[in-house]
Amino acid sequence: MPRVSRQPPGIFITLEGGEGSGKTTQARRLCTYLTAQGLSVLRTREPGGTLLAERIRTILLNRSKESVAPETEALLILAARRQHVDHVIKPALAQGKAVVCDRFSDSTMAYQGYGRGLDLRTLRTMNDWATGKLVPHLTLMFDVPVSVGLRRRRGDGSTQNRMDREAEQFHKNVRAGFHVLAKKEPRRILLIDASSSLESVERTVEQCVTSWLKRHRFPQPHRR
Ligand SMILES: Nc1ncnc2c1ncn2[C@@H]1O[C@H](COP(=O)(O)OP(=O)(O)OP(=O)(O)O)[C@@H](O)[C@H]1O
Ligand SMILES: [Mg+2]
Repeated sequence: MPRVSRQPPGIFITLEGGEGSGKTTQARRLCTYLTAQGLSVLRTREPGGTLLAERIRTILLNRSKESVAPETEALLILAARRQHVDHVIKPALAQGKAVVCDRFSDSTMAYQGYGRGLDLRTLRTMNDWATGKLVPHLTLMFDVPVSVGLRRRRGDGSTQNRMDREAEQFHKNVRAGFHVLAKKEPRRILLIDASSSLESVERTVEQCVTSWLKRHRFPQPHRR
C-alpha cells in the first residue's frame, strides 16, 4: 500500500529574531520573491493572524498599569497561537500554500523561556500542546547585536511597546536563547547575520530559501 503522508502539502517558513532584527521587512520581501517563483503565498504574524489573536496581541504589547506575570504572558501567547494555527496556518498549508510567519514558537522559547526565565521543558510541552506539534519546515533567524536592533526600532518612528521597554539585559538573554535554539536544530534553523544592509540580508535570505527548496525538492510550484 502506498504510504500516505500526513504532512500537509504546503511549506511553513518562520522568521525569528530580536527587536528590530528585520523580520517584518524581510518577510515582505521574501513573500514577493516566493510569489515571483510561482508559489501561492500567505504572509502572517504572531502574536496575531486572526481577529481573536490580534486582540490578544494588543493586550500583550500595550503597556498597562497592571503587571503581567510571565506565566500569564505565555498563556496568552499560546492561546493566540492555537487560534492562528487552527484558523489560518493549517488551512493554508492544506491548500499547498507557502506560509511565511513573522515570529512563532522559537520566540516563545527565547522571550518567555530564556528572557523571562520560565521553565524551558514546561514551556516546550505547553507549546507542543498548543500547536498540535506543528513545527516550521524552515526558520530564518535574524541575528543582530541588541543595541543595533533597538536603535533601528527607535529610528523607524514605531511606538515603543512593552517588549522594547525591557532592560538591555533581557534582550541579551533573548538573543543568547535564540543562539541556543539555532545550535540545537541546525537543519531547521538558519542563523543569518542581519547586521548588514537590507539588500544584503535579502540576498542571503533568497539564497538560503532557494537552496533549501532545491534540497528538499519541495514544494511543487503551485499552479495559479
Ligand atoms: N539590514 C537592515 N539595515 C538597516 N536597517 C534595517 C535593516 N533591516 C531592517 N531595517 C530597518 O529597521 C527597522 C526595523 O525593521 P523591522 O520592522 O523589519 O524589524 P523587526 O525584526 O520586524 O522588528 P520587531 O521585532 O520590532 O517587529 C525598520 O525601520 C527597517 O527599515
Ligand atoms: Mg516586526
